[in-house]
Amino acid sequence: MAGKSKILIIGGTGYIGKFIVDTSAKMGHPTFALMRESTLSNPSKSQIVQNFRNSGVTLLYGDIYDHASLVNAIKQVDVVISTVGREQLADQINIIAAIKEAGNVKRFFPSEFGNDADRVHPVQPAKTMYDAKVRIRRMVEAEGIPFTYVVNNFFAGYFLRTLSQPGATAPPRDKVVIFGDGNPKAIYCKEEDIAIYTIKAVDDPQTLNKVLYVRPPQNTISLNELVSLWEKKIGKTLERTYISEEQLLRNIQGQRISFYSWLWEFQKPKCCHHYYYKLLSR
Ligand SMILES: NC(=O)c1ccc[n+]([C@@H]2O[C@H](COP(=O)([O-])OP(=O)(O)OC[C@H]3O[C@@H](n4cnc5c(N)ncnc54)[C@H](OP(=O)(O)O)[C@@H]3O)[C@@H](O)[C@H]2O)c1
Repeated sequence: MAGKSKILIIGGTGYIGKFIVDTSAKMGHPTFALMRESTLSNPSKSQIVQNFRNSGVTLLYGDIYDHASLVNAIKQVDVVISTVGREQLADQINIIAAIKEAGNVKRFFPSEFGNDADRVHPVQPAKTMYDAKVRIRRMVEAEGIPFTYVVNNFFAGYFLRTLSQPGATAPPRDKVVIFGDGNPKAIYCKEEDIAIYTIKAVDDPQTLNKVLYVRPPQNTISLNELVSLWEKKIGKTLERTYISEEQLLRNIQGQRISFYSWLWEFQKPKCCHHYYYKLLSR
């Protein structure tokens, strides 16, 4: 482990966080996971916590609303990766304050792992989430904290396996809903790959103070293309229903954050470039 940065993950028991903790440990980084004591007694998290223990991850109790616990955890590491969820995005200001007080962090990865917050054109309710990510970016930069922002577009586990169908847990077998004309391309990344590139970026000077785009060309595909691939695989033609942009916007209105608001982003062609591991100077 000599020479490998010590990494703290805040939010490691969450959806993307567990992949990042696992990969950090597997790639030989001394790995620390900050979690609330209540998480330990949550049966739905027990397997994740056990996996961390089996991988030699150091568990630290803490909470992003407990400043002393954050400072204590951060002082033990070199790099902080936040994978907190949507509700805590704005409150990452607490992590920034703790990093400033600890004074030892050589890289901070705020909770991003989606579309490029500075370049999307979201509508509510997704807009609130992107606004929070942008505010955190500006605070990190204003405080002079070394950073990397990981932009991987869509989690394959969320969107690929359902063909982006609202509310679905499996790909459709009879009918499929297509948004707009179905031709804008989106990028789907496997969670394991996102985790590998995140951890590889930790000690890579090329990623310092940069946006890290994870964009495998072969994972860049339109909904029409995706449906055609699926049809070929199951040997069946699906009934396609097209939802216009105007209808999609009406469906989004008044909803809590949902597949529809994510899909509005999915349909925006501006964020769909075919670069792989491209670093954009800020
Ligand atoms: N690209 C995509 O398709 C996509 C999809 C979804 C999310 N995302 C992004 O990925 C990032 C992570 O989201 P996620 O869905 O993986 O998150 P998540 O599953 O909601 O996990 C949140 C984590 O934060 C922890 N947490 C909550 N409150 C905390 C507190 N007060 N102190 C310390 N830890 C706390 C949770 O602990 P417990 O385990 O105890 O609850 C959990 O580990 C977000 O930036 C989100 O926007 C991207």
